Amino acid sequence: MQSESLDYILDHYKNPRNFGTIEDADFSYEEGIPSCGDVIRLDLKIRDNKLDDVKFSGTGCAISQASVSILTENVTGKEIGDVISLTDHDMLEALGGQVSPIRFKCALLGLTVLKKALAGIKSDS
Ligand code: FES
Repeated sequence: MQSESLDYILDHYKNPRNFGTIEDADFSYEEGIPSCGDVIRLDLKIRDNKLDDVKFSGTGCAISQASVSILTENVTGKEIGDVISLTDHDMLEALGGQVSPIRFKCALLGLTVLKKALAGIKSDS
């Protein structure tokens, strides 16, 4: 892993952005990885078809926690449609493209949870 992207990931792990919960969230979703026991929860506030606020909580390894922190920063204020179209590749690129394949499941957990939360939005509206 290149030191620049490692520093970026470690910074998000040590100083997570948007960590917490939203009491009056419009949608919440939680999912984990049974093999390691790590869990991420996302709370979403929607306004004008945009992600107005996103908070995450849960526990996990450095890669999963950093990646969901980076994800929340990247999607806050974005149109729902743009967020839904994010790909696994986009998420790995946001991490600097240096995560090894064995850690992809960690890096993509946040995006999986976010997409499932958004699936709830689509089916409820
Ligand atoms: Fe559990 Fe990374 S080891 S999410």
